[in-house]
Amino acid sequence: MTDHTKISALEKALLAEIAGAGDLDGIERVRIAALGKKGRVPELMAELGALPADQRRAFGQAVNGLKTRVGEALEVRKAELERGALTARLAAEITDVTLPVRAGPLQDGRIHPVSQVFDEVAEIFGDMGFSIAEGPDIESDDLNFTKLNIPPEHPARQEHDTFYMKGTGKERDNAPVMVLRTHTSPVQIRTMLAQKPPIRIIAPGRVYRMDSDATHTPMFHQIEGLVIDESSHLGHLKWCLEEFCKAFFEVGEVRMRFRASHFPFTEPSMEVDIDAAAIGKPGKWLEILGSGMVHPNVISNCGLDPEKYQGFAFGMGLDRIAMLKYAIPDLRDMFAADLRWLRHYGFTALDIPTLAGGLSG
Ligand code: DAH
Repeated sequence: MTDHTKISALEKALLAEIAGAGDLDGIERVRIAALGKKGRVPELMAELGALPADQRRAFGQAVNGLKTRVGEALEVRKAELERGALTARLAAEITDVTLPVRAGPLQDGRIHPVSQVFDEVAEIFGDMGFSIAEGPDIESDDLNFTKLNIPPEHPARQEHDTFYMKGTGKERDNAPVMVLRTHTSPVQIRTMLAQKPPIRIIAPGRVYRMDSDATHTPMFHQIEGLVIDESSHLGHLKWCLEEFCKAFFEVGEVRMRFRASHFPFTEPSMEVDIDAAAIGKPGKWLEILGSGMVHPNVISNCGLDPEKYQGFAFGMGLDRIAMLKYAIPDLRDMFAADLRWLRHYGFTALDIPTLAGGLSG
C-alpha cells in the first residue's frame, strides 16, 4: 500500500468512527484512539523516522493534514452531540408552571398579616434605599429610655407601661436594668452606635407594654425608621412618609395631616394622620405614626456630632397599619393563633409582595 492510500484509508475509517459515535463518552473514546498519545494518527506519524529523507516532508504534511481534518470532524460531532444532550435534558426536565400548586403545606399554609405587612413595608423602603436593622426584645433601660433623651424620672417613662426584668438593677448588684423594649426606637441608638452616617434603616420588631383591650395587646409590633446624614430635613421626612403611604395603601393620592406633637427623642415632633379615603372611608382622620427630626441630644448620646449630623425618625404600629389596610377589626385576634382567623385574613405563601407585581397580590 502506498503512503497515500494508507493515509486515506485511515481517514475514512476514523471519519466513520466519528460519525458513528452515539454520545459524548463515545466521541471522547474515538478522539483518544485517533489522536491520543498512543493513537493511530501519532502512530502513523512515528513511521516518518523509517522513511528515506526525500519522502519525509511529503509524508509529514499528509499526516498533519489528516490530523487537522480528523480534529475538525471530532469537534463538529462533539458539538452536535452536546446540543442533542441539552435538548434531551430540557425535554426531560420540563416543568409546567401553569399547573396549580399541589395540595400540601405550601398550598394550605398562610402568611400572617403582620408578616405580610412587614414584607410590604420592607419592599417599599428597600426601594428607597433603606436597609433592615434589628435589636433584641430584652433591652437595657439605658437604650430603651436614657439614650433616647428620656432620663430617669422623665414623665414619658410612665406612659410606656414598662415590663421590667426581674433580677436586674438594684435587685442584683446594680446590674444594668433590663426591660422588655417598649418601642423599636432603641434600634436607632444601636444603629448610630454601630455604624457611621449616612444611615438609612428600618427596624421591625416586637414591643411590649402592660396594656390590653380591643386596640392594645401586651405585645405588638412596630417599625422604626431612621435617616441620619448631613442634610436630610423635614421636607425629606414628609416626602418619604407620603410616598410610603401611597405605595402601602396602593393609591395614587393620599391626604395626610402632620400634627405638632412631642416625643423626647425628636424635635420638632409630628404625629401623622391619613385621610381614611385611602382605605375607602373618606372623611375620617386616622393616626398612623409618630415622627420628627432626631433630637441633637440623641445624636450626641451616640457619639456623633449634632452640629454635623442631622436626620429624621419615625415609628409606626405594624399591627395597626395591617388592621387598617386589611380591615381587621380586633387587634387581640392577631395573636390568638386561631387557624380559622388565619385562613380568612392570611396570605398565600407563594404570593410575595413586590412593587412591580403588586403588594397585596
Ligand atoms: N417610639 C414612639 C412610640 O412608641 C414612636 C415614635 C415616635 C418613633 C416618633 C419615632 C419617632 O422614631 O420619631 O410611641
